[in-house]
Amino acid sequence: MLVLWGLLLFLPILGLYLWFYHGWGCFFREDAIQPTQPLVTDKRARDKVLRQGFSQDKVPASLDALVIGSGVGGLSVAALLAKAGKKVLVLEQHEQAGGSCHTFQQHGYEFDVGIHYVGQMHENGMMRIIMDQLTDGQLQWNRLADDYDFVMVGPRQYLISAGKRGFPERLKKQFPGEEEAIDKFVAMMKKVARHVALLGALKILPQWLSLFLLRTRILHMFSPIFWFSESSHQDVLNKLTSNKDLQTVFSYVFYGVPPNDSSFMINSLLLHHYKRGAWYPRGGSSEIPFHMINVIERAGGKVLVKAPVTRILLSNGRATGVAVKKSGQEICVSAPIIISDAGIFNTYERLLPPEIKQKPEVASILSRLQYGMGCFLVFVGLRGTSDELGLKSINYWMFQGADLNSLMDQCSLSTLDEFCENLPLMFITSPSAKDPTYNLRHPGRSCMTLLTMAPYHWFSEWKEHQPRHRGDDYYNMKMKLAQKMLERALKENPQLEDKVEYMEAATPLSNEYYLRAPKGSMYSAEQNCSRYQSDIIVKMRTQTAVPGLYLTGQDVFSSGLAGAVHGGLLCACAVLNRILYLDLIIMKKRLKRQRMKKRD
Ligand SMILES: Cc1cc2nc3c(=O)[nH]c(=O)nc-3n(C[C@H](O)[C@H](O)[C@H](O)COP(=O)(O)OP(=O)(O)OC[C@H]3O[C@@H](n4cnc5c(N)ncnc54)[C@H](O)[C@@H]3O)c2cc1C
Ligand SMILES: *[C@@H]1O[C@H](CO)[C@@H](O)[C@H](O)[C@H]1NC(C)=O
Ligand SMILES: *[C@@H]1O[C@H](CO)[C@@H](O)[C@H](O)[C@H]1NC(C)=O
Repeated sequence: MLVLWGLLLFLPILGLYLWFYHGWGCFFREDAIQPTQPLVTDKRARDKVLRQGFSQDKVPASLDALVIGSGVGGLSVAALLAKAGKKVLVLEQHEQAGGSCHTFQQHGYEFDVGIHYVGQMHENGMMRIIMDQLTDGQLQWNRLADDYDFVMVGPRQYLISAGKRGFPERLKKQFPGEEEAIDKFVAMMKKVARHVALLGALKILPQWLSLFLLRTRILHMFSPIFWFSESSHQDVLNKLTSNKDLQTVFSYVFYGVPPNDSSFMINSLLLHHYKRGAWYPRGGSSEIPFHMINVIERAGGKVLVKAPVTRILLSNGRATGVAVKKSGQEICVSAPIIISDAGIFNTYERLLPPEIKQKPEVASILSRLQYGMGCFLVFVGLRGTSDELGLKSINYWMFQGADLNSLMDQCSLSTLDEFCENLPLMFITSPSAKDPTYNLRHPGRSCMTLLTMAPYHWFSEWKEHQPRHRGDDYYNMKMKLAQKMLERALKENPQLEDKVEYMEAATPLSNEYYLRAPKGSMYSAEQNCSRYQSDIIVKMRTQTAVPGLYLTGQDVFSSGLAGAVHGGLLCACAVLNRILYLDLIIMKKRLKRQRMKKRD
């Protein structure tokens, strides 16, 4: 009881303190949103922003911070710091900026590698406000059709619809008799979405305080979020329904972890993420880095590519700079704050001296994590526009059967040959059908991307070789799987049969090479139940065991574009010593008021 009163007293004091500390000013500004400029399609103009090669003379003098990696996690924290007037240098090992948001062009086609669709981009939603702020309002989003996903369980098919009401209603039509289970699931999903902010708060509060609150189980009295995050998705579903197809539909956004080892919180957040609909960046996913870089440069910062960081430099135990490999030599760049978007494994296992990862506070985290599963991508170039070919913006999620646990097991345990025979699961999407500007940028062409999960070991014997130097065996193996996946996709879209003009495949080795993803993992650290135990949630935070070194991106909270941007926000909160989420709430209120006024 005493504890409860203590907490009741503590919260208003904290609230008052934050209010005074933030004053009336807001970190974000309405006038950051500029009138939309025309899409820049000229390759040279884009390369000038996205492909600025590293050299020592391009490093700005007296840096305020340095970011390793130009994924959206790295760029978003750099842009936030830039908004606070900081001069930030972002170093990227690849030859173009963007990480999973970069795109590549071949034979007149353009493919994005790691953004298929994003949720929560509705007007005045929190995620939209932050994306607008980070891109001067220049990044535009196309909304996909209301029916955005198509789930195929064996021969049976289910549509997923957007909308607070549309989502459950569509499901109820397709699963008569399961109304109660659907309502219960949606109610839990809402609860998770409402309470997940508490976990964010625990990553912002000092770690000792968060751990204290956890161990005393004070917060457990107020919020079910710990139960949701620690419960296996499968266990929760079993209590709701025994309908295997419905269980599959509640778990269809696959990311390499079987439902029996994944967190109910994460799986339900994934579905919740798209509840308002799905969006695709107008102009393709490289628009995301393109506009964020402008914000960073306006404050005197730079984003330089072909800049592989080999080490984080320490002085008296504090991070003071990095070493960059350039023409066989190491160039040192110093900055008072170092931020890593390279992921938790790269940061501790490759960039820091080995004794750091042996520190108990680091070892206790790393021992509970593992490398995430890899993925296999097939990029298909098609002759004809999306309209001509009847390509739709809807995504296909195909499952050979309704037992996702064993299908996921097949991904990790079967041989490549067995996998080719069975194709347990696969995802099909058409970026060109989601973006009306594709035809403008690549006239007369369209494209399709196929994806499945794939373990590293299928291809690991070629890991020492560079792309295009891995020999015929590697090529034939990957093309065999690619061909199987293409055949399966053509079965769904027979009109494309004679339109395929280009096909390329990416294995976990490609992810490892181009994105430095350890073991080619698709989403960095595996998102299994172990990672979402409450104490690990508190410990996986932006602060590291090294003073002056911070983590950003998808390992700070969770993966996906939204997850990585939250990583950037949490990191900026720590570096700027300011709770930017409060500023976001203030901004949201202000924008809402303005819109109401306009309407009157
Ligand atoms: C195939 C695929 C499909 C996806 N689809 C979606 C989707 O539809 N919707 C969605 O929201 N999310 C999707 N995601 C996930 C999303 O893209 C990622 O979670 C997010 O972009 C990760 O951002 P990040 O900044 O944390 O990491 P990354 O984008 O991986 O960036 C890390 C960067 O660090 C660089 N780096 C690493 N080491 C070094 C070093 N030593 N020196 C210099 N640079 C270094 C890498 O080259 C890389 O550019 C997908 C991911 C994949 C792989
Ligand atoms: C989840 O990850 C942890 C940490 O590596 C591992 O110990 C555990 O076995 C994993 N769970 C399963 C079922 O693979
Ligand atoms: C999950 O299910 C699969 C397939 O049924 C099984 O092999 C695996 O051991 C299960 N994992 C857990 C953590 O229960």
